[in-house]
Order: sequence, then C-alpha cells, then structure tokens
Amino acid sequence: MTGTSDARPVSRRGLLTGGALAAGGALAGAATVTAARPDTPGVRPAEAAPVAQVGSAVEPFHGPRQAGVATEPQAHAAFVAFTLRSGTDRAALGRMLRLLSDDAARLTQGRPALADTEPELGLLPARLTVTFGFGPGLYRAAGRDDRRPDSVVDLPPFRVDRLQSRWSGGDLLLQICADDPLTVVHAQRVLVKDSRPFATVRWVQQGFRRAAGAEPGRTQRNLFGQLDGTANPKPGVPLDTAVWVPDGPDWLRESTTLVVRRISMNLETWDLLGRADREVAVGRRVGTGAPLTGTGEHDEPDFAALGPDGLTVIPDFSHLTRAHVTDDRLRILRRPYNYDGVPTADGTADSGLVFASYQADIARQFLPIQRRLAERDLLNEWTTPIGSAVFAIPPGCPPGGWIGRQLLG
Ligand code: HEM
Repeated sequence: MTGTSDARPVSRRGLLTGGALAAGGALAGAATVTAARPDTPGVRPAEAAPVAQVGSAVEPFHGPRQAGVATEPQAHAAFVAFTLRSGTDRAALGRMLRLLSDDAARLTQGRPALADTEPELGLLPARLTVTFGFGPGLYRAAGRDDRRPDSVVDLPPFRVDRLQSRWSGGDLLLQICADDPLTVVHAQRVLVKDSRPFATVRWVQQGFRRAAGAEPGRTQRNLFGQLDGTANPKPGVPLDTAVWVPDGPDWLRESTTLVVRRISMNLETWDLLGRADREVAVGRRVGTGAPLTGTGEHDEPDFAALGPDGLTVIPDFSHLTRAHVTDDRLRILRRPYNYDGVPTADGTADSGLVFASYQADIARQFLPIQRRLAERDLLNEWTTPIGSAVFAIPPGCPPGGWIGRQLLG
C-alpha cells in the first residue's frame, strides 16, 4: 500500500496551509513541481511516475502488524536505540509509548507532530515508517519479564565478534525509514525530543540503499558490490511464515523479532581480491548475482555440482553454503542498510552493513545461521561484527491505540 495515484500539481503555498495539512497523506503532486514529467525527452513514463510521487507516498501506520518490516525497504534509515532512565516504570513507559505512537502516526501520514517545531518538515512522508522494538531491559523496567518473547535475550558471543558497547544493546529501538533523508532526520529529531524525559539515546546507526526509483524491483547492492537480498523469503506465505508469530496472547500475536548487527566491511583488503576470488567467497557472481552453478540471479544453487578438479563448484566455506536455508519456516528476512562513515586521513574507509534481520524466533532461525557463519565462512576474512542488539517487534495498533498497549495496558 504505497502512495497515491493523484498526481495533480499543487501550489507550494497550498502545501503549507491548512488544506494540505488536513489532507494528511494526500500531498500528491508535491514532487511533480520539479520531477521529470512523462513527456520529458529521454524519460520513459513507466520510470517517471514513481519518482514524481516519492515525497508524497504513504505507508500505513495502523494495523495488526507494524510497518517497516515487510515494507519494501526505503532508501534511508536511522536505527535509534535508547536506554531507559532509572525512574521509567510501567506507567511512565505507557506515557512515553502513547506519545511516540502519536508522533509516528502523524508523521508517517504527512502530518506534523503535535507541537512540531518545524511543521513544514513533517509534510512529505516519503513512505516514512517508524517501527518500535523492545529490548530485554524494557520488559524488566515494565515488570513484565514474563511477557518477553523467549528468544529476545542478548546473543551469545561468537568467535568473529569484536563488539563495541557504543553500537550494542538498547532498551527501546525506533527504526525510522523513508525515501527522503530530511524526512528521516526530522522524524528522528521529534521522537528523540519526546523521549527525553524517559530515556537517553544509546546509539544511532544511519544507513542507505539506492535512491527510490533508481533501480525499481532490483535487489540492492552492498559496498562490496554484491547483490544482497536475493534469497530473502518471498512476499506472501513464505515471508509470513518466517517472520510473524501467528498465534498466542495478544502481546505476541503478529509480533516478530529483530537482530541488528553492525558489521564492518574491510574494503581495503577486499579491493586486493580478483573477481573470481570474490565470487568464490560468496558462491555467487558479482555481476548477475547468479549462483556459481547457474546463470540467473534466482536460479537454485546446486551445492553438489562438481568442477573439473573434482571439488564442489560452490565451496563449502562460501557464504552461500554456510547461510543457506531450505525450510521456509527457518528463513530470516534480511533488510540491511549500507553505512559509510568518515574515512581516515590516509583514506581508509569506514564502511559496512547495518545488518537487520527479522524472524519469528531468534533462537530457532537466526542463531543456527550465525553459528554456521562464525564457524566457517570465508567472508569472515573481510567482515567483522562490531555491534549487536536484539529487540521484540510488538504487534501494531489500531487508530487511537498505541504500540505496547497489549504489554503495558
Ligand atoms: C557484512 C556482512 C555480510 C555480507 C556482505 C553478506 C552478503 C551476502 C550476499 C552477497 C548474499 C547472497 C545474495 C543473497 O541471497 O542475499 C548473502 C546471502 C545470505 N546471507 Fe549474508 N552477508 C553478510 C552477513 C550475514 C549475516 C550476519 C547473516 C546471518 C546471520 C547472513 C545471512 C545470509 C542468508 C540467510 C543468506 C541467504 C542464503 C541462502 O539461503 O541462499 N548474512 N549474504
């Protein structure tokens, strides 16, 4: 459910006055003022239309499941983790989550937050989603440890980990995603300000993918140049089965879990590899994303196929072999963002992935994969986990409701 099809141009003045505000998400045409029109020479209509609607496109906030999980990934993200202040008990948590839910309900629909100090920045939702995650500490603070999903506990240490506390843990997470970076930053500002009486910012991880409309329908590339996301569960039953908890009490039903890992990628040593070595490390071609035994990105890998040397074409230490999952119920939904910090003076990059994975149960789905990767994955030569955090993603809420009500109410 994305966007609106009404692309009538509206005046700038109209946008900033009550009419447009009252129309909520119906800010269609805001981007048509400057965006390429279908009749622009060299621009094919099929590509021009989505670009013209990037700013005004809306994702629903209310519903049984939170947005920002199965949502087609937006171009920009900020993962904001908080530490609850010592006095934030169940009642205070309720006040905070009511307030933040109200902010999110407004901003995601293109309406400024209450007492928004920069209301003009709230007018272009650009598919904004705000997804709430509860860390183990939130359940403790609420006196509701009995309602914490069993698998939402700190991950065990892995051999490959070099975790830093400045990228790890967190009692509350707000995952803020939109196709426009200014929209993300404004939402972050509003939400951080409103959480100030209750919590302090623990870490913020910003990330990006290709711009909206740049490569519609294509798998994104990470900073190693690889197509990343090919084998994600397909929308519909496979994704539903892997990600959402289908039944149980109301604080669990339609919930999921999130693992956030900050994984640094060593571009300097990766640069030294030839193309063939890069492809062996992953088990897929860099150009097409095809498995080494196929020609198309979505061809099934053949792990038994032997090369002329009698060895398997896809080595058993490749990332593909180690991470591969065949049972739909055990898949994870990866929704990672690239990060790229400031290089050192000699030009050494600070790059990697804000790796975000959703699954119904961390212990049953994520952990076995991560254990196999830590044990023997050639990609470990060039990647290092430097941050780690786990959250429950509670069910969504209906209009007038708030996220977390089933837990605290
Ligand atoms: C910087 C770190 C990583 C990079 C660069 C990376 C890259 C890739 C690439 C290029 C693929 C193949 C295309 C695709 O299906 O998406 C892939 C597949 C996959 N990766 Fe990673 N990955 C990283 C970390 C992880 C981690 C930490 C996990 C989970 C613990 C993971 C789980 C998977 C899974 C489940 C697949 C699909 C395997 C299949 O069933 O075919 N990856 N990854």
